[in-house]
Amino acid sequence: MRILVVGSGGREHALAWKISRSPLVRALFAAPGNPGISRVATLVALDPRDVDAVARWCVENRIDLVVVGPEAPLVAGLADRVAREGIPVFGPSAAAAEIEGSKAFAKDVMRAAGIPTAEYEAFTEVGPAVAWARARAGRVVVKADGLAAGKGVVVCGDAAEAEEALRAMLVGGAHGAAGRKVVVEERLEGPEASCIAFTDGERVRMLAAAQDHKRIFDGDRGPNTGGMGAFSPTPNVGADLLADVERTVIVPAVRELAWRGRPFRGALYAGIMLTPKGARVLEFNARLGDPETQPILMRLANDIVPALLAAAKGDLSGVTLEFDPRAAVGVVLAAEGYPGTVASGDVVEGADGPFPEDVQVFHAGTTRGPDGRAVTSGGRVLTVCALGTGLPDAARRAYEAVGRVRFRGMQFRKDIGGKA
Ligand code: AMP
Ligand code: GLY
Repeated sequence: MRILVVGSGGREHALAWKISRSPLVRALFAAPGNPGISRVATLVALDPRDVDAVARWCVENRIDLVVVGPEAPLVAGLADRVAREGIPVFGPSAAAAEIEGSKAFAKDVMRAAGIPTAEYEAFTEVGPAVAWARARAGRVVVKADGLAAGKGVVVCGDAAEAEEALRAMLVGGAHGAAGRKVVVEERLEGPEASCIAFTDGERVRMLAAAQDHKRIFDGDRGPNTGGMGAFSPTPNVGADLLADVERTVIVPAVRELAWRGRPFRGALYAGIMLTPKGARVLEFNARLGDPETQPILMRLANDIVPALLAAAKGDLSGVTLEFDPRAAVGVVLAAEGYPGTVASGDVVEGADGPFPEDVQVFHAGTTRGPDGRAVTSGGRVLTVCALGTGLPDAARRAYEAVGRVRFRGMQFRKDIGGKA
């Protein structure tokens, strides 16, 4: 098969790495990819949001399967455009991706399908929104409706904070069009987990659960990031709870979307909070998580290609996913200044190994410098992953590998996997 992976982050490197191990693959491409991905795939200089250009390239290059990593091209209709050429796509249509692209739509789906989630209301006017927040003493979460690169969520502790967040979005135009509508919801407490499933629009196959470390500093301090590391399995989500999430969250969401004429084919991600009253959904994503994908795919025992193709073609019935009983830990190495403005162009040393077995270094924010060496080009630069007999062993092996990688201003958390 000839396969194209769309995207350029650590998640896409992990996907390309896993796909490249399949005996079914004759040629593997990535658009636009990164220097790490270039070790397993041929890079193609395409902008993923230019859906016509990507679709044309796929036809000209006789691509048999397109695997889309990030949400932006999905929301822009890349899957629809490629499917129109008769090429199977792993990744939902724009209509189905709205479950991530609009928080109000996602909440409406949850309400209609009876999926456990925080109480909420959607607003476009600041007055009623502030009143709703005040009635809950400001212990609310304010969310921009549209995509805001993970920065559109404000967890509030009192009424003043809530009012400030609401004014910033609804009056001040923070996040532009994405924040002209907001969802305000009840603030929940508890540990979080990421539960992701492959779905063909009807059937679902759960991936192993994972846990993300969202804050920049050790001990979950500092501002939220895209994710500073992840591990799988998580003791917070045992087999029973994962089965519960499948039955009460994933399956009802997939059914509701199909019923609305928006069948979802691809990876459906439920961000879960484990509250004293049970698991509650915080958000849906229309894609795999980053960095969760990196440790999850290190544990996936199957050839991933038949599963991706089956989901894309709408029939997962013959697919069973198996996971390595070992644990995997992924540590994100971020550039100086992340999650704010970051430096770029710093030479990355040591990322190509050699590393011991079961250690993988996935590139994210890297590009080729003038002399051909990888240099930093984004906030999250690498994810260093390792398998181990348990989480402590996996973490130890991952940090050993981290010790061999260097770039100026490199920052990372020292406690990834320690949440367990
Ligand atoms: P989201 O993009 O909706 O997942 O929100 C990002 C982060 O905000 C989540 O991972 C949580 O840490 C936090 N968050 C979102 N919704 C809530 C909520 N209802 N209660 C408490 N924290 C939340
Ligand atoms: N790591 C969180 C996400 O991918 O949304």
